[in-house]
Amino acid sequence: MKISIYGVGYVGLVSGVCFASTGHQVMCYDIEAEKISMLQQGQTVLYEPDFFDLLAGTLEKKAIEFTTDLEKTIAFSDMHLICVGTPSEDNNGKANLTYLIQAIENIALHARDHFIMIIKSTVPVGTAQKAKKRIEELFAEQNKDTAFHVVSCPEFLAQGSAVKNFLHPDRVVVGTDSSYAFDRVKELYAPVTQEAHVPVIQMRNSSAELTKYASNLFLATKISYMNEISRIAELIGADIAETIQGMVADKRIGSAMSNPGCGFGGSCLPKDLKALIYQSEMYNHNPILLKAVLEVNVEQRRFFISKVFSLCEFNVKDKIFAIWGLSFKPNTDDLREAVSCDLISALAKAGGQIHAYDPAAGPNAKIKFQSFSNFTLCETKEQSLKDADFLIVMAEWSEFYNLDYNLLKSSMRYPVLIDCRNMYDPKMITQHGVAYFSIGRGFLPGAAC
Ligand code: UDX
Repeated sequence: MKISIYGVGYVGLVSGVCFASTGHQVMCYDIEAEKISMLQQGQTVLYEPDFFDLLAGTLEKKAIEFTTDLEKTIAFSDMHLICVGTPSEDNNGKANLTYLIQAIENIALHARDHFIMIIKSTVPVGTAQKAKKRIEELFAEQNKDTAFHVVSCPEFLAQGSAVKNFLHPDRVVVGTDSSYAFDRVKELYAPVTQEAHVPVIQMRNSSAELTKYASNLFLATKISYMNEISRIAELIGADIAETIQGMVADKRIGSAMSNPGCGFGGSCLPKDLKALIYQSEMYNHNPILLKAVLEVNVEQRRFFISKVFSLCEFNVKDKIFAIWGLSFKPNTDDLREAVSCDLISALAKAGGQIHAYDPAAGPNAKIKFQSFSNFTLCETKEQSLKDADFLIVMAEWSEFYNLDYNLLKSSMRYPVLIDCRNMYDPKMITQHGVAYFSIGRGFLPGAAC
């Protein structure tokens, strides 16, 4: 099938390249000329496992084309996938739909008869309905008589595993009341759904739009719940890791998204949470649980940062903090809403020396913290340890799991490990003479060895 994609942000780019890799012909449009030119040359503009090879392969096969030519993209197909950004307008959660409306209007005015507009961007519930109305208004103004279908098809990609999530989805949600549009979208996804018998679920547009928020916020709720239990565990002397082990053995609970930490970040969970709270309030509903999920997250982030300060007895000045893992989660270079950024700012402002290391997000961090003279980006994790007072592990990259205890002891002034992902075995760490703080398990001094 031929498809046109608008917006080569995270969702547009991964979807475009994955669709192209499954046999479709894809044209991707964006206004950002520099980005398009890089993609045309096979240069990746995002850090995502497996993405680069897939991009190179689809370009070589000429299955994908990148362009800044809007008219050409609209003329390319009758399936138009809108993947533009819908950033928060401000901190109140209202989504900015400027780019989305522009895309809808442009496509509507120039697309051929029976076109299908597929909204993949995360949008407030009711957006597809508004899009239909706007298109009808435009057609009335222009005396245009074109049949069209607006489909809501949310994306469930997680950064760091987006290619895998796309090619092996749990489900495909298709919001439309048109059986013609549903069949076409089902056909589009057939290469990734048919063999594995993945359900393609048809529902009304608003239900599909809500499914995206409801799914993300369920995950956010699970994390906040675990974070809250971890705080209680620490206070009463339980070990959260043991408790979780006991919980997740119950299949109804499950182990995914059950790790306590320093609060969730990223471009989706915090934004989507605020957006649904905002929209609920617009309907005069007080979303008590969603507000609590957000509050627990804000509090967990604050708690973790103040814990770091209290572990150095509020004497941060001139202490050296080796910080491993800057991105909001492993396998991405994305710093959006990463707790590491709040921690680094707080420590740097208090006069601490930051020696940071990240396998991918280093260049982004260098730009973000360029105004802090006490922020040093290290080439290796080993280098960051030199004379450090504390090692703080913020994201569970696989290369952080194996610790060289001898190096920790010989490089650091006094080895204290602060682990906000509960990556390590407390017994093992402390037996090696390293003091250890982790989430929901309290502080353990290193045994003398
Ligand atoms: C999320 C959803 O998972 C995905 O389905 C949706 O399409 C987009 O939003 P993403 O933001 O990429 O994906 O990352 P996710 O893996 O959900 O992690 C979000 C945050 O929660 C990260 O900061 C992560 O560290 C944190 N987290 C995750 C925990 O604190 N504990 C966990 O058990 C899992």
